Amino acid sequence: MSVKTFSIDGKVISAKEGQTILEAARDAGIFIPTLCHFPGLTNVGACRLCLVEVSNSSKLQPACTTKVSEGMEVRSNSEKLKEYRKLIIELLLSERNHQCSVCVANGNCELQNLAMTLGVDHVRFDFRFPNLPVDISHELFGIDHNRCILCTRCVRVCDEIEGAHTWDVANRGANAIVITDMNQPWGESESCTSCGKCVLVCPTGALFKRGVSVAELQKDKSHLEFIIQARVKKQWIR
Ligand code: SF4
Ligand code: SF4
Ligand code: FES
Repeated sequence: MSVKTFSIDGKVISAKEGQTILEAARDAGIFIPTLCHFPGLTNVGACRLCLVEVSNSSKLQPACTTKVSEGMEVRSNSEKLKEYRKLIIELLLSERNHQCSVCVANGNCELQNLAMTLGVDHVRFDFRFPNLPVDISHELFGIDHNRCILCTRCVRVCDEIEGAHTWDVANRGANAIVITDMNQPWGESESCTSCGKCVLVCPTGALFKRGVSVAELQKDKSHLEFIIQARVKKQWIR
C-alpha cells in the first residue's frame, strides 16, 4: 500500500493511501470535531462539523469523507472554520429541545462537550421548540426525539454491525425523524434484537436505557469499538 505525504496546519503527515483526512489527523493527534462519524461505521458526511479547508478547492470539505492525496495542504483550525463549527452547534441546539439540566446525558453528551470545547456560550437563533414524542414502548430502552440530532449513528450501527436494520430516517429537512421498522412503536418492532448498540453509539441523550435518571447515563464506546475491531480482524472466524 502506498503512502501519501501531505500537511495539516503546516505539519507534514504521512498517511496510508485510502485514509481519510480525519483518520490521518487523529493518528497524528490533531483534533477535528465530529458528531456523525463513529470509528468502524461508514461515513455519511451529515453533520458538517469536520469541515476543513483543502488546497485547490474553493469549497470546504468534510474530513471524514475526503481521502488524503499527495501534497494536499489542509487547514483544520482557521478562524473561518471555528465560526462555522460554532454556527453548526448553535443550529443543532436551536433545532430541537435541548434542556441539558433535565437530560439523561447531561455531563456525558458529545453535543454538550463540543459546545463547551468550541466556545458556544449562547445561541444566536430563535429556538424552534418542536413538539416531539418520547417513545418508551421498548421494555429496556427509550428514545426522546427532542434530543436527536439526526446523526444516523443508530441507523448505521444497527444495519452494519448488528445486521438488524431496525432504524431508518423518515421525512426530510426539519421534519426528518428516526423511526423503527415501519414507523411503529419501538416495543412493537419485530427486527429489534434488544442488543443496545444504538443506545451505546448515540452521541446525545436521545437514546437511553430505561430506569436511568438524569446525569446517570454512561455510554461505554469501548464495548462497540471492541466488537467492530474483532469483526475487522475476523477474530470470531475459525
Ligand atoms: S442531548 Fe446533550 S445537548 Fe441535548 S439536552 Fe441532553 S445533554 Fe444537552
Ligand atoms: S437517536 Fe441518537 S444516534 Fe440516532 S440519529 Fe438521533 S442522535 Fe443520532
Ligand atoms: S463527522 Fe464529518 S460530516 Fe459529520
